[in-house]
Amino acid sequence: MGRVIAVANQKGGVGKTTTAINLASSFAACEVNTLLVDCDPQSNATSGLGLVKDPERLNTYHLLVGAASAEEAVQATALEQLWLIPANKNLIGANLELVEADRREFRLRDALAPLFARYEFIVLDCPPALDLLTLNALVAADAVLIPMQAEYFALEGISELLDTIERIRGSFNPDLGIEGVVLTMFDERTNLAQQVTAELKRFFGEKLCATTIPRNIRLAEAPSHGKPALLYDPRSKGAESYIRLAKEIIAHREAVAVEGDLDRPTSSSDGVATEEVVTAEVAPLEIESPVEIEPSHSADEQAAVVAAEAEVEASQQHGENVEEIPAAAEMDKSA
Ligand SMILES: Nc1ncnc2c1ncn2[C@@H]1O[C@H](COP(=O)(O)OP(=O)(O)OP(=O)(O)O)[C@@H](O)[C@H]1O
Ligand SMILES: [Mg+2]
Repeated sequence: MGRVIAVANQKGGVGKTTTAINLASSFAACEVNTLLVDCDPQSNATSGLGLVKDPERLNTYHLLVGAASAEEAVQATALEQLWLIPANKNLIGANLELVEADRREFRLRDALAPLFARYEFIVLDCPPALDLLTLNALVAADAVLIPMQAEYFALEGISELLDTIERIRGSFNPDLGIEGVVLTMFDERTNLAQQVTAELKRFFGEKLCATTIPRNIRLAEAPSHGKPALLYDPRSKGAESYIRLAKEIIAHREAVAVEGDLDRPTSSSDGVATEEVVTAEVAPLEIESPVEIEPSHSADEQAAVVAAEAEVEASQQHGENVEEIPAAAEMDKSA
């Protein structure tokens, strides 16, 4: 069965869509079949992958109201192993239309269920609200990935999301886990970023992803070209960082599959990590290292090259060049 990851944070502009697009693309570049589902009426993930606005096209709205199957709504993308279920602004109507509906919180989960076996990862891009759309995503998900910026009071806004996750565990989805907290638009050179990272590490323990996403202009430019960063500028720091994040998540999943449960309690005192239930039935993934290729790159070839380069860089950084990524190195030591 595939793993469904909801990218959620009710705070606006923290990098949810950038993370959803580039993480899903990076999974695909790592040669695993991946589906991105746009659950936000703003439809930024849809346009960011190059689909022009088309209210006639089947989208997440049709899934939620039962007017189409997920299979009918799936669109191919420029990456061979990435598919998309788009959104449209009509999705905003689903919030109201479903108020009285049967199983209104389970609509997305029920719609996606026939596809679970077809994809290794299903990534859900959530809107900046704890509304019925986000609720549907959290009920459909195995785990939540929380993008956050390293700001003072970063934790303040997060408590509402953690409360919501807790409530959903208590009602609709007892197995909902936390995939991780990923720092976005991160500038490791500032003292502020270091201090906030240390604070978040204390709070989230192992749930704080070792990979951080730097502030990188290519990540901001890529959506206006309708491309994930790894196709727009495969050598950019932004593209490379999302490949690293994908590999971190894949490696964690493989470890859980092999060892049963790596999500053992950490020393953090908040209860976030310790209360998580993670199912151990996932099959190990076999990711081959992409090979070097000729200069005339197809979309998938470009993606494979950036995946391989990021892997080399990641291993170097974990070795001799740790001073280049002090935040990640610090986390490794304390893990
Ligand atoms: N790492 C980054 N470096 C530079 N710019 C970034 C980065 N991540 C996101 N951005 C830019 O910040 C803005 C907000 O990002 P994004 O749309 O991903 O956030 P969001 O959480 O999905 O927003 P919303 O809450 O509106 O859905 C966008 O203009 C995006 O291009
Ligand atoms: Mg968004």
